[in-house]
Amino acid sequence: GERVERVRAIATGLRDLRGPLLPILHAVQRELGHVDAQDVPVIADALNLAVAEVHGVATFYRDFRSAPGGRTTVRICQAEACRAVGAEALGAHARRRLGVGFGETTSDGAVTLDEVFCLGNCALGPAAQVDGRLHGRVTPARFDALLGEAR
Ligand code: FES
Repeated sequence: GERVERVRAIATGLRDLRGPLLPILHAVQRELGHVDAQDVPVIADALNLAVAEVHGVATFYRDFRSAPGGRTTVRICQAEACRAVGAEALGAHARRRLGVGFGETTSDGAVTLDEVFCLGNCALGPAAQVDGRLHGRVTPARFDALLGEAR
């Protein structure tokens, strides 16, 4: 189908890069929202790699999502500097609030919750990103407010 053609075009376009697999997976995710199970053999074929190898890489990195994301994507920093100022508690609050774990999407498809490791906003932790927009000093109450605005 159309998706297969798109993935094949992306893979073919990037396969001459040195170490092309990660750039291809990133491009597929950026353009098509996630790296679907059906994309894996297409990419493997373009790169002359084993399907298991591509599958292994696509599932090893938490950057890649295997199912479509929610309408809103929330990313919460769980790296050192943010942890020192409450990022773990914020993460726990977010998971409880949304009823999903990191890397998951709410059952109504509204929100995908992701953890990230540093958003470059370390002085203003805990940091979070809502649909690409960066927020600092995110308390649980502020998290709820941001979520309310996004929905
Ligand atoms: Fe959280 Fe850098 S550690 S933004």
